[in-house]
Order: sequence, then structure tokens, then C-alpha cells
Amino acid sequence: MTNGIRYNPTAAHKLLDDQRVTAMRDKVLAARDEALADVELLKSGDAIPNEKQPLDAGFINLPAELLAEQENNGDDSLVGNIAQVATELRERIDRFVVLGIGGSYMGARALFEALCHPFHNELPRDDRDGVPRIYFEGNNLDNDVQRCLLELLESQCTDANDIAQRWGLTVISKSGGTLETAVAFRLFRAALERLYGAASAEARSCVIPVTGEQGKLRDFSTAKEYPHVFPIPDGVGGRFSVFTAVGLLPAAMLGIDIVALLQGAADITEQLRDAPPGENPVIDYVVTAALFEEQGMDIRVLSTWGKRLEALGLWYDQLLSESLGKHERGATPITGVNTRDLHSRGQQHQEGRRDKLITNVIVERPSAALLEVPSVPDAENQDQLNAHAGKTLPQLLSAAIEGTNKAYAGDNRPTADILLPQVDAYCMGQLLQMLMLATAVEGQLIGINPYGQPGVEAYKQNMNEILNS
Ligand code: PA5
Repeated sequence: MTNGIRYNPTAAHKLLDDQRVTAMRDKVLAARDEALADVELLKSGDAIPNEKQPLDAGFINLPAELLAEQENNGDDSLVGNIAQVATELRERIDRFVVLGIGGSYMGARALFEALCHPFHNELPRDDRDGVPRIYFEGNNLDNDVQRCLLELLESQCTDANDIAQRWGLTVISKSGGTLETAVAFRLFRAALERLYGAASAEARSCVIPVTGEQGKLRDFSTAKEYPHVFPIPDGVGGRFSVFTAVGLLPAAMLGIDIVALLQGAADITEQLRDAPPGENPVIDYVVTAALFEEQGMDIRVLSTWGKRLEALGLWYDQLLSESLGKHERGATPITGVNTRDLHSRGQQHQEGRRDKLITNVIVERPSAALLEVPSVPDAENQDQLNAHAGKTLPQLLSAAIEGTNKAYAGDNRPTADILLPQVDAYCMGQLLQMLMLATAVEGQLIGINPYGQPGVEAYKQNMNEILNS
């Protein structure tokens, strides 16, 4: 594997007994085999035992399967189709609203923040390479924010003949019945139809539903005859669905290389199957996490060094907590962004309860041209920064990472590193799939079904009862 992500738990393992590490590796390898066997079980069509219900292991082979299909069928493949529809819509609109909640938007948001210009929406269209501005909604019941986005769209977009004033949306819901998304869809659909004309073909062509094979959204999409509706396959759960149209369609709209994304995901899956412990990021990550959890360190801090990976951290928060937070078990994930959060959480991580494993996410090569500390005349050197004049921001960041890790090591606080050579589609594909695979393997290891989220039903049922009373 060249130029891929790596996982380095050396600092954390200094705090562990070698025999425990070896024993845990064997258990995690067995859990890996079980997680992979689930893929075969799903494919076989055999009855799925009760304790494995629901079984959403379809995400594991999905990237490789999609790539193979694309290789064979080109533009007629699902990936080819998503790319074509996205390219065609991109050329017709300048704003794109993604409606979805939980697993139906968080992956797309992680990809957007990691891979697009940090001020994407503020750039003129040419500087965005013709990629529309993007907005995420339908993930809350916040009146003010939703009202303000609708007002923004309606005030800025009044002339449907001007590309700069045209917008479209995707509505993403696997069940097709999630209230937050469904309500937002009604509101945004009405606004869109006011722009293009109610029941016009134009309005229909600017809406792309992504949904399961059955459900209210599927039925509505069929009745409405939307020209493009993308599926979310059975056997792939919401928070594991970033490599279905759920993540691929918004990514393609954003001009992200979805084949590279899938290739990264397929490669790390192969590495999980074939690479020995010590060279296998998924296995090594689960071994480390499980060993510290065994000794009561069940707060898992994903410490991202740089702002672009915050949404990736929030996506992982959701993935881990919804997947393994069951039966009074499961680690608690927290996302940090450093060096920002050294000034908010750093004190607690250094001297608070000994309940945290810190996983740094470190990007080795920045994407933009380097900034340096400028030199100023002595008369203006009151901040004494001339001592560092010429040092780049990445050099300062490296010193902060090294200094922080050293401080934690000095107090026996465990840290491990996930290293990305750079933030690109390939590495993001690897990272997202690595964390999904790790969650599935960890579920097998601790005897928790990582799929499904039965606990979320209680609030939904109560809310519906209250609304219907
Ligand atoms: O991981 C999950 O399954 C959930 O977070 C769902 O993605 C979320 O509840 C949204 O569900 P749906 O796509 O059915 O609207």
C-alpha cells in the first residue's frame, strides 16, 4: 500500500503489557473473521439468526463491488450513473441543498469539509469550478435556521433563467419516513416549485431522492415521477451508507473523485482481510481501543489536528455511539479539533480522569501553499515572533503535536496516531471505511450487534404519540 493512511499506536502500547496485546490481537482477528463471514451470510440468502438481526454488513464489500461494476459497465453502472446525473445537474444549478439526518448526511458533510475549499460557498462560481454552493438541512427541527435558508434561497433565486439563481436539492432517507427530513422536503420542495413552476418538469428534474426500495419517500418519488431516484440497498445501514448514493451523489455534485474515494475504501478493506497485525490499521485500532476500554478508559477522543476533519469526527461520533452504545456498553466518542481545543479540553485531557484514549488524526501534507511567520522590523517585534520568522504553520503545528503527545506520555496518558499523507479523496475513502470496519469488528469483539439503532425508536414513538394526541 503506497501513499495510504497509517495507524501508529506505539505511544499507547508503551502503557500496555505485551502479552495482553498479543492475546487481544488473536481475539480481534477472530472478530474480523466473524465480521467478514457476515458478508457471506448476507449474500447467501440463508435465514439470518435472530441475534444477528438486523445484519447490515453489506457496506464491507460495497466499494469493491461498485468499482467492479463500474469497470464492466462504465456509464451504465451505478457509479457512472451517479457521476453523469451529478455533472448534468451541476451545470444547471448554482445552489444545492442536501436534506437528510444522521447517517443520511453526516458522511457527505465530512467529505465536503475535508475536500472542498473551506470557504466554498463564498467563492464565485468560476472559482468553485462550477460546483454549486451546498447547504445541509432536514437534520433538525430548528425553525430559525430553516426559515433563514428558505428566505435566502427565495430572495436570491427569483429568475429561473439565470444559472446563478437556480437551485436544486437531494432528499436522502433510507426509511423514507424520518419526520425531520420529510418536513424539510415539503418546505423546500414548495419553494423550489415556486421558482420553476409547480408540477413543471424543470422542478422535478432539480430534485434527486435517495431512498430505500420501499417506504413513503419511494412511493412519493414514484408518484411524482422524479427522473432520477437513487437506491440505498438493503443490507447497508444508514451510518454505514456513505459509499452508496447517500454519500456518492453529494460528493459527485461537489466534484469529488468518487472512484478514488471508493478505491481507498476497497483497498483498506483488502488490507483488513490480508495484512498482519502491526500493518493492519483496522485490527491495530480495535486492539488498542479494546485494551484501554478493558481498563476503564472508555472515552474515545478523536483529536483532529486541523479544522477540515471536524465533520469527519462528528460522523465517527455518530457511527460509534449509535452502533455500539447498546446494552449499557460501548465507548463514548468525542471529537476534538486541535490546536483549538487544547484551549478548551486540553486541561482535562492532561489532568482529568484517567478514562480517555486519544487518537490523533494527523495530516502530513497540507493542500494549500504554506504560510510562514513574517519577519517584522525590530521596532515592531514586541510579540518576539521574529525568533520564529520563516517557520511555516505546518512546522508550528508539528511542534504542537509533538509537544502535546510528549506531555500526555509524561503523565501516562495513552495516545495513538492515524496518519494521512494528505487529505484527498483516496485517503478519505480509506479513513471512512477504516472507521466503519473497526466499528463492525469491535461490535463482534464485545458481543454487540453494531447494526440497527433500537434505542432511537423510543423518542420517535413518543414524539409521534404526542403529535397525534
Ligand atoms: O445510522 C442510522 O441508521 C441513522 O442515523 C439514520 O441514518 C438516520 O436515523 C436517518 O434515517 P433515514 O435515512 O431512514 O431517514
